[in-house]
Amino acid sequence: MVKVAVMGYGTIGSGVVEILEQNKQRIKKTSGEDVEVKYVLDLREFEGDPIQSKIVHDYKVIAEDPEISVVVETMGGVEPAFTFVKAMLEAGKNVTTSNKALVADKGAELIAIAEQKNVNFLFEASVGGGIPIIRPLMSSITGDEIVEISGIVNGTTNYMLTKMTAEGLEFDDVLKEAQAKGYAEKDPTADIEGYDACRKIAILTSVVCGQQVNYEDIHTEGITKITATDILYAKEMNRAIKLLATSRQTNEGYVAMVAPFLIPQDHPLYNVNDVFNAIFVKGNMLGDSMFYGSGAGKLPTASAVVGDIVDMVKHMGKHIILNWDATPMVLADYKKCESKFFVRTKASKEEISNIFGKVEFVDVKSLADEIGFVTEQMTEAAYEEKAAKLPDLLQMIRLA
Ligand code: HSE
Repeated sequence: MVKVAVMGYGTIGSGVVEILEQNKQRIKKTSGEDVEVKYVLDLREFEGDPIQSKIVHDYKVIAEDPEISVVVETMGGVEPAFTFVKAMLEAGKNVTTSNKALVADKGAELIAIAEQKNVNFLFEASVGGGIPIIRPLMSSITGDEIVEISGIVNGTTNYMLTKMTAEGLEFDDVLKEAQAKGYAEKDPTADIEGYDACRKIAILTSVVCGQQVNYEDIHTEGITKITATDILYAKEMNRAIKLLATSRQTNEGYVAMVAPFLIPQDHPLYNVNDVFNAIFVKGNMLGDSMFYGSGAGKLPTASAVVGDIVDMVKHMGKHIILNWDATPMVLADYKKCESKFFVRTKASKEEISNIFGKVEFVDVKSLADEIGFVTEQMTEAAYEEKAAKLPDLLQMIRLA
């Protein structure tokens, strides 16, 4: 019998308790043990809920109980989650978390403690919700150099962009609707400004490179400036606008970025719509692969946490080596990164050509007082230098 404690009885934590109960027999078969929840740590009491008798308010009760060998952290945020998780690992307990803020900030440190204590710190649910991506990167695609990892890793913004595309709506209207439906949070900043996706690509890049990537080093743009007019141009180009979190190997090292991109129809990420997530991985031997599924939500995310629990039960007393050390990863400067740029402006075709040279114009018939164009392939730095000379620049979106 393996006794588990769940820290944080919110959406994901309650999902973990539900799956452990509902899929008890399956979990016993796959892990080889009965797995039972002994404690649930939360500030609230949950009167009348079947877990009420398991509620504790002090994390030390869990840390000091030798019967607990697995701890689930589903509280979110860096503190107090970090203090609690560190205490659990130091007490010799295995920990799984769904908390991307914690993993992005403290991943290497917590993995190092787990190694010292011969336990495990796993975090499958921290990126892509229920989609298996961390374990495939850590355990399956391990003989390859990963040359690119790019994903739609935020369900809220993908839902919003899908809605804007399907219904021609403006950003603010779609945001209100997404909030009313419970897809977007009351304070949507982390999603719409790209901060959530930034932490997720920091984790993926750390896993791929084996070093600690500082998420603050990643150039991040959200979707707040995307308009219904941009969507009209995207349709004219047979492309879709998606918020991409991308990391790729260049001659100067890995370069990572979060930004809206115009994706062509033949790109594997083009058809990833609504709240779904997908992560595209290119290995130097594997070639292209894609991991697709539910990137958020109670049961999909809890499913990934329970997968970690089963893995930890199967590896009791054995640390699973994760290639992610504390050495800070120096990312290449994104300004040296090359792409084509789609630009909207009120400038004349002549002015555009004088500044950018050869471009491809994109004309949306219903828009009389502006024009769009796509540049040749150039670095971010070269684009910025030219764009500074362009009068009346209205928008820039990179092409994937
Ligand atoms: N806010 C996140 C999203 C939740 O919309 O994808 C999952 O991390």
